[in-house]
Amino acid sequence: MADLLTVEDLTVSFGTSAGRVKALNNVSLSVPAGEVVCVVGESGSGKSTLALTIMGLLPHNTEVSDGRIMYCGIDLLRAEPEQMRDLRGREISLVFQDAQSALNPIEAIGPQLEEVILAHSNVTLRGANQMAQDMLFEMGMADPKRIMGQFPFALSGGMCQRVMMAMALIMRPKLLIADEPTSGLDVTLQAEILHKIKELVKDHNASVLLITHDMGVVAAMANKVGVIYAGNVVETSEVVPLFRRPQHPYTWSLLQSLPRLDDPGKRIEPLPGTPPDMIKLPEECPFLPRCFKARNQCRTDPKPRLFELETGHMVACFNPVIPEEQD
Ligand SMILES: Nc1ncnc2c1ncn2[C@@H]1O[C@H](COP(=O)(O)OP(=O)(O)OP(=O)(O)O)[C@@H](O)[C@H]1O
Ligand SMILES: [Mg+2]
Repeated sequence: MADLLTVEDLTVSFGTSAGRVKALNNVSLSVPAGEVVCVVGESGSGKSTLALTIMGLLPHNTEVSDGRIMYCGIDLLRAEPEQMRDLRGREISLVFQDAQSALNPIEAIGPQLEEVILAHSNVTLRGANQMAQDMLFEMGMADPKRIMGQFPFALSGGMCQRVMMAMALIMRPKLLIADEPTSGLDVTLQAEILHKIKELVKDHNASVLLITHDMGVVAAMANKVGVIYAGNVVETSEVVPLFRRPQHPYTWSLLQSLPRLDDPGKRIEPLPGTPPDMIKLPEECPFLPRCFKARNQCRTDPKPRLFELETGHMVACFNPVIPEEQD
């Protein structure tokens, strides 16, 4: 499958009074057309930074020092602001991690949705109003007319998430970036939102970059997975081999820490230690202090780059977990 989006060697940092936060370090990842790629990793590992970099929505203290983000032959990092504005919302859209604060607090929901439609199509205001209502209805809102007149603060977190999804899906984007779209929601709404994302893929052959820290969501949604640790992609794979034969010790540990229905007697091993300080990232592998497979080379050599251990399965590790160790 051809790739719709390719992130190559992306390096992003934030200037702060305490020093430079190295949020993304030589990140490479691709999203094939018509597929769902999940990005997983602990809190603070750089997932939202990746989403915002692709969208061109970074704060002023950001430095993108390296890399390319190719989308349909366009390098998004070097696209004109006008071109980015045109792509955003129409072809590429983002569901923000925090829906409530991503919506404009001083504008009602209706005009916010209409604005997106009017910016990207030739419909009349009345047409846009109807489209917005239809979309809210599709997102499970029984009374869209009333919702259109409300301000974000008057809506529950779950309602805001539905509005955010409506806004992201209304132009049927080719690429949807969804940053933790279901975290903090009850399971029925979670299932609804994941179903909507699947529909977009199935009915419109869209591609999705789905950011989550929930391995259950990954198992239900992903074609491919990218595992990110301290701003580094440490493993990429099709979903089934990743669950069956994780190769990076971090991925292996993540999966060990999950309860298993098919093996209820299994001991759940939490991952010891904490992620590194992103201001003082080491030259060597950032997972080293927490790694049960660490050997001398991991201490002496610069961090390992991704390489293909099995077809389609990449790992950045000098001493990957081998299948025999996993039984
Ligand atoms: N505007 C900013 N200025 C300074 N540091 C930032 C900024 N935005 C993010 N960071 C830092 O960059 C790192 C990556 O943050 P990011 O929000 O991308 O992580 P995340 O993986 O999305 O985490 P979470 O799972 O909690 O959402 C963190 O150390 C964070 O504190
Ligand atoms: Mg985040």
